[in-house]
Amino acid sequence: MASIFQPGIYKGKVLFITGGRSGIGYSIAEEMMRFGASACILGRDAKGLQESAAALEKSTGSKCLAAPADVRSKEDLAKAVKACLDKFGRIDFVVCAAAGNFLAPISGMSENAFRTVIEIDTIGTYNTLKATLPAVRETKGAYLHISATLHYAGTPYQAHVSAAKAAIDALSNVIAVEEGPRGVRSNVCAPGPIANTEGMKRLGTKGREIERGIPLGKQGDTTDIAYYALWLFSPAAAWVTGSTMVIDGGQMHIRGTS
Ligand code: HXC
Repeated sequence: MASIFQPGIYKGKVLFITGGRSGIGYSIAEEMMRFGASACILGRDAKGLQESAAALEKSTGSKCLAAPADVRSKEDLAKAVKACLDKFGRIDFVVCAAAGNFLAPISGMSENAFRTVIEIDTIGTYNTLKATLPAVRETKGAYLHISATLHYAGTPYQAHVSAAKAAIDALSNVIAVEEGPRGVRSNVCAPGPIANTEGMKRLGTKGREIERGIPLGKQGDTTDIAYYALWLFSPAAAWVTGSTMVIDGGQMHIRGTS
């Protein structure tokens, strides 16, 4: 696809992204790096993370730092922020894309199972916010939270994720209001089914069945979310904060009829 974005627009800017090893996070890092940003990608799988950072540098020509971290650990996040600042000197944009999920009815979901997803998604987002905010204030930067649409209705087998994502949406709005006067923005993206992601693998639904319930007739690509991030972090979106962008091919408007 011919780019509608200006080459080099993110040169000198630094992206810090949790869940950057694969899927939506990887794609956002790749597009931002293609337009000149340096990136620090976080994930639990140190070896996989290193391989992803090397692949990102190769495909984009920009710099990428692999920072192994579990977002449930504030110590890991502090280390990752320090490594990012030591290498790149600043943090302009933060994407919270790390998440955990599996299908389970609430009747069969142990307290630890529920808590695990809340800790990865919600506490992980809180930890990321706390660790990065001082640096993001310095650059008058921006946050993007990768949420979901499933909590807009009662989605079966998704109690943990629904509760976690609803809390993330609320956190983003508070950050927008509290930090807006300092020039920091915070927004949410709520993707629908995105092909070839860990989330879709874990939810285990057949592609054809999903596509019947999407007005645009196909699952999304990770780049559908990455292109939104390219716009959101640009000066074109300078007045956009406290918003949620649903990118789901129209799925949520016909959920229940498919
Ligand atoms: C019931 C389950 C379960 C399952 C795990 N548990 N899988 N319970 N059904 N299928 C329970 C365990 O039994 C345990 O509880 C508790 O959850 C913690 O499990 P662990 O395996 O010890 O946790 P951990 O190793 O930390 O792994 C976390 C994880 C795992 C979330 C369980 O799936 C993971 O690492 N996921 C990361 C990647 C991922 O899920 N990406 C997809 C995000 S998709 P007990 O009681 O036995 O101790 C997404 C998009 C949503 O978020 C929107 C989609 C449209």
